[in-house]
Amino acid sequence: MRKNESQKIREVFDEKLALNHIHIDASELFISRLKNISDPEQKRKIIGSTFIEVFEQEAKKIKDVEFLVQGTLYPDVIESVSVKGSSVTIKSHHNVGGLPEKMNLKLIEPFRTLFKDEVRNVGRELNIPEEFIQRHPFPGPGLAVRVLGPVDKEKLEMLREADDIFIKSIIDSEIYNDIWQAFAVLLPVQSVGVMGDARTYEYVLALRAVTSVDGMTADWYYFEHDFLSNVSNKIINKVRGINRVVYDISSKPPATIEWE
Ligand code: XMP
Repeated sequence: MRKNESQKIREVFDEKLALNHIHIDASELFISRLKNISDPEQKRKIIGSTFIEVFEQEAKKIKDVEFLVQGTLYPDVIESVSVKGSSVTIKSHHNVGGLPEKMNLKLIEPFRTLFKDEVRNVGRELNIPEEFIQRHPFPGPGLAVRVLGPVDKEKLEMLREADDIFIKSIIDSEIYNDIWQAFAVLLPVQSVGVMGDARTYEYVLALRAVTSVDGMTADWYYFEHDFLSNVSNKIINKVRGINRVVYDISSKPPATIEWE
């Protein structure tokens, strides 16, 4: 999860939606299973199966459960499974397939055939507050697919801090709602830098921001020069371990939105 994200979501569930929810922090388990794993598909599969395992363990404690409701969207379905054999697997999305077969639950996926812009319209019809509706998408496997290569606590912490600076700057500049999705990616590359009189050899961080209608295609977002310059300075000055920031100017296709 991103910086303070679990806490913020719990507040929304408790205070704004009055939902009875159970929060499980399984971060140690996820991180231990991801140790030394660098292949993106393997990372996604480990995260997916660990998610199912933790979910099952907790769900078993509640009696007489019949249904599982998931927010699967149409792009999750087409990018994860071969529909009628015509599309290849681009990435295994964590929430497609898996749980119900193992758990004897009836699956409810109201948005399975809808794109995100359509889901947002449904939300507006239902008077869901605009701040929820406009929230940028976040991938199920979380920051683990934004720390490229092997994941560990220190790298996740670095990424969290840098991502928080980037997103806060976007909100402060009042461009959050013009962007489909924005985030930082920690690269498994170190580069030479200089700080004061000393040589540094630290990580490279990539910033990604795209515009899109449904996530299936996307264009990179055009930031003002000053914006990028300020964000880069802030990140390099405040986040220990990062000495270089680059901006990703690739569209989807041929790139994807996430890097893994
Ligand atoms: P890509 O990287 O495939 O991403 O261009 C398209 C959109 O999907 C999000 N994404 C995911 N969402 N589970 C999800 O629920 C996943 O495993 C997953 N992987 C990517 C991504 O953030 C983008 O909005």
